[in-house]
Amino acid sequence: MYLCNFKSKGNMRLKADNHNNTNHKGKMNTPNNPRLDNQEKKNVYVETYGCQMNFADSEIFGSILLKEGYTMVDQVEQSDYVLINTCAIRDNAEQRIRKRLRELRALQRQRPWMHVGILGCMAERLKTQLLEEEENVSFVVGPDAYRKLPSIMKQVKGGVKAAATELSDKETYDDIDPVRLNGNGISAYISIMRGCQNYCAYCVVPYTRGLERSRNPQTIVEEARFLCNEGYKEITLLGQNVNSYRWEHEGAVVGFPQLLAMVAEVSPRLRVRFATSHPKDLSDELLHTMARYDNICKSIHLPVQSGSERMLKLMNRKYTPQWYLNRIEAIRTILPDCSISTDVIAGFCTETEEDHQATLEMFRTVRYDSAFMFKFSMRPDTFAARHLEDDVPEEVKIRRLEEIIALQNQLSLENNQQCIGHTYEVLVEGASRRSKEQLFGRTSQNKVVVFDRGSHQPGEYLKVMVKECSSATLKGVVVTEE
Ligand code: SAH
Ligand code: SF4
Ligand code: F3S
Repeated sequence: MYLCNFKSKGNMRLKADNHNNTNHKGKMNTPNNPRLDNQEKKNVYVETYGCQMNFADSEIFGSILLKEGYTMVDQVEQSDYVLINTCAIRDNAEQRIRKRLRELRALQRQRPWMHVGILGCMAERLKTQLLEEEENVSFVVGPDAYRKLPSIMKQVKGGVKAAATELSDKETYDDIDPVRLNGNGISAYISIMRGCQNYCAYCVVPYTRGLERSRNPQTIVEEARFLCNEGYKEITLLGQNVNSYRWEHEGAVVGFPQLLAMVAEVSPRLRVRFATSHPKDLSDELLHTMARYDNICKSIHLPVQSGSERMLKLMNRKYTPQWYLNRIEAIRTILPDCSISTDVIAGFCTETEEDHQATLEMFRTVRYDSAFMFKFSMRPDTFAARHLEDDVPEEVKIRRLEEIIALQNQLSLENNQQCIGHTYEVLVEGASRRSKEQLFGRTSQNKVVVFDRGSHQPGEYLKVMVKECSSATLKGVVVTEE
C-alpha cells in the first residue's frame, strides 16, 4: 500500500524514542550553544516519503544511527544532517523531493556545516547522478546499504560527497531492532520481506529495491513478541508482495500462511495486519488461516491495476481478470466479513476506452471498500519506458482517473452505509482530527470510526455501534467496554 495517494501525502518526522535514546540524552545540539556546535555535530532530522516500507526503513536506519551516537531531532532547524528517505514510484514523487531540496538551501546557508542526504528509492534510481544534479546533496544511500550510513556520514563530514547504492539479494536487516520513532505506541510495522522481481511493465520498484528476499521467521516472531510486551496492540507485516513471503532453510519452508499463524499466536490481544498482497499468491490456505484467528484483521489490500485482460497482460501482472475475480470470490466465501481495497492505474500505455470501461466494471463487480487511484507515470528503465509509448493524452488520463475516483467514492459510501446499525470491535488509536472531544480507531476491516471520548484512552479495545457515515469515515457510539 502506498501512503501517498493522489490527494494525501505521506510525510513523517522522526522523533527520538526515549526508550532507545536514553544513552544520548543531553547531546542535543542547538545553534544557540556554540560550544556544542563546534564539538559534535550529530543531530539528525529524518523526513520520509513513499510507502510503508520506507517508513519501516527509516526506523531501521534510525536505530543504526542511534547506536552510533547520533541524536534524532524533530526540528530541521536543529539538525546537522537532514536525511530524506525518498520514493521514485511516480514522477511527481521525485519532483516533490527536488522541491524540498530547493527549500532546504536557505537553511543550509545559515548552517553551512549541515549535510543533506538522499536515501531510499530515488537515491537507488539515480545514484551519483543525483549528487551531480543537486549541488546541496552530500550523499546518497540506497535501501540495501543502510548499514553503511554511519561511515558515509563520517566521510561527508570530511568534505567529500559519498554514495552507497549497491543492492543485495540477502540484506533483510533482521538483526536490527527498529527504533519506534514518532509512533503512537499502539501500532507498529514489521518488514518481513524486501525487494520485488515481478517486473510489472510500469514499475520502478524492482530497480530500486532489488531481488525479493524473505526474512528469518524467528526474528519476525521475536520482534512481534517484543512489541507486544512493550504494550503495542497492532502490528502490520510489510512487504512489496507480502504474501509471496517464503523462507527456506535446511530443507524447511515457512510460507506466508504459516508465518501469519506464528505471529497471530504471539497473543490473541495483538492485532495482525499485512500489506501488500499480490493476487497471484493469494491462496485459499492464507484465507483459511485468516479465518482461524480472530486477531488477524479481516482486511485485504489486493491491487488490481486494471480490469482489462489485455492491459493486465501488457502490464505483466501475471493474472487475468477472471483469476482476480476468482480470488475475490474466495475471499467472499471464506471471509464473508473481510474488506477489500485496491490500487489502480489509469491511462497505461495503449489503454483504450474499452479497457477503461473494463476497469470501471471491475470496480462495480468487486465493490471495493477503498482504493488508491493513480494516473500512469512513465518511469525510466522500466519495460514500458524501453518498449512502449506513453500514448494516452494527459487530459484523457485525468478524465479516466476522475471517473474511477467518482465511482469509488460512491462505492465507499455505499459500503460504509452497510455498516450502520452494526457493532464492531475498535482499537482506539488517538484523538480525532476534527475534535479533541472525540477519539478515532479502526475496525478489523480497517475502517476508521470516530466516537465521543468519554473516559476512553488510545490503546483500548471498545465495541462501537455505527450510527452514521461518510465515504471516508464511520461515526458511532461506544456500546460496551471490555
Ligand atoms: N507491490 C505492490 C505495489 C507497489 S507500488 C503491488 O504489486 O501491488 C504501489 C502502487 O503504485 C501500485 O500498486 C501501482 O498502482 C502504483 N504505481 C506503480 N508504478 C506506477 C506508475 N509508473 N505510474 C502510476 N502508478 C504506479
Ligand atoms: Fe511493482 Fe509489480 Fe513489484 Fe508491485 S509486483 S512492486 S507493482 S513490480
Ligand atoms: Fe515504496 Fe516508493 Fe520505493 S512506493 S518501494 S518508496 S519507489
